[in-house]
Amino acid sequence: MLKAGSALKKDPASQTPGAADSLHVAIIMDGNGRWAAARGLPRIEGHRRGVQTVRRIVEACPDLGIDRLTLFAFSTENWRRPADEVRGLMGLFRHYLRKESAELVRQGARVRFIGDRTALEPDLIQSMEQLERETASGARVALDVALNYGSRAEIAAAARRLAVRVARGEIAPEAIDEAAVEAELFTCGASDPDLVIRTSGEQRLSNFLLWQAAYAEFYFAAEHWPDFDRASLERALRSFRGRDRRFGAIAG
Ligand code: IPE
Ligand code: IPE
Ligand code: MG
Repeated sequence: MLKAGSALKKDPASQTPGAADSLHVAIIMDGNGRWAAARGLPRIEGHRRGVQTVRRIVEACPDLGIDRLTLFAFSTENWRRPADEVRGLMGLFRHYLRKESAELVRQGARVRFIGDRTALEPDLIQSMEQLERETASGARVALDVALNYGSRAEIAAAARRLAVRVARGEIAPEAIDEAAVEAELFTCGASDPDLVIRTSGEQRLSNFLLWQAAYAEFYFAAEHWPDFDRASLERALRSFRGRDRRFGAIAG
């Protein structure tokens, strides 16, 4: 029996080997719009407050033993929202990336963006790259921000790249194993998430980390993302630590 978060944590199938006590939490930050609506505020105000939650949660990670945090900020499906909301969100990302750099360095965060950058505005892409450079030596928490991220598109792109390599004769079809696929994902080099948290009561993945979350534990928090705080995260971790992770084996 593998107690979640125990020193024995090991996934024989696909977990990237890492430090015994490493903990990867991934969060679907949901409910900004409902938080705002409940207060008679525009949805963008909920997104603004959501950014403050990000700061709080990143700050709490090292203390709580979380050395990797993946945040779902914008999905490939979120383009379906009204144009003014999408514009507002992009503006907020821009503002956040420029303003938050020093704070992220202070927090020891190492930021990487996962998702399809090519569809984003060039100045936003530049700010993303700049932030990745500025935080490259952060050693306390690896922070992957999923921006224009969709898991199915990620897996399809990985398959496409591998097919090209086979067609060129660079690799044999038999060489395509789980590790080869993983190496082509945006999350390449990262451990799989141990715990996926979704706020705001919804119980779905919405195209987030479909491959990577194969053996993740799930926790659904009732709070909207702007109300999620360190105590909420601690509650999620307590729940996680009480679970038995078996990875297909048997308890014992
Ligand atoms: C999450 O909050 C933020 C993004 C998806 C960008 P929502 O905007 O989805 O908030 P709800 O779900 O409408 O309340
Ligand atoms: C998922 O939330 C995407 C992010 C949190 C960025 P959504 O609010 O877009 O998901 P659905 O539409 O309710 O499934
Ligand atoms: Mg939502």
